[in-house]
Amino acid sequence: MRVAIITSSDSGAKGLREDVSGPLIQRIVEGLGATVVSYELLPDEREQLAEAMRKIADEGKADLILTTGGTGFSMRDCMPEATLDVVERQAPGIPEAMRFYSMQFTGRAMLSRAMAGIRKETLIVNLPGSPKAVGETLEYIFPQLVHGVEILTGAASDCGRADARGEKQ
Ligand code: MTE
Repeated sequence: MRVAIITSSDSGAKGLREDVSGPLIQRIVEGLGATVVSYELLPDEREQLAEAMRKIADEGKADLILTTGGTGFSMRDCMPEATLDVVERQAPGIPEAMRFYSMQFTGRAMLSRAMAGIRKETLIVNLPGSPKAVGETLEYIFPQLVHGVEILTGAASDCGRADARGEKQ
């Protein structure tokens, strides 16, 4: 599993704030057996974010793009819009599950406008911006993302015999 990480943060891109969430995503996914192929720290600029995601997907550089930040209500938050600009098919179950699971930690989880979708053979998933939120959600969703990517890339064709037996995945 090749993972590209994009952090959306005006202050981070200006060097005014250290990006903790991007490197945290890297540590978590590497711990789960994935390879991080790129990391970009970009300002909250819709076209710049969209272009970065488009390039990774169109050049087949990563199976999964994980973004962090820019999913809230601030006027500069535009990661969901940038994501919708580039995906060809949405995968709403992923952010739905993330928000539902996160409600046990904070009711504010419902304020994340995170999206997920597919462009070519790359899955794109928005995570919220805080390291706390990344820590709470990423390990929970990651195993299912791996299966999704396997189906997307043709590495798996069967959604699991265990599933057919009704076992929880
Ligand atoms: N999800 C989890 N699991 N834990 C959190 O602390 N914070 C929420 C939400 N999702 C949070 C969470 C808050 S306070 C906001 S404003 C939104 O994510 C959007 O965050 P972002 O703008 O940094 O992407």
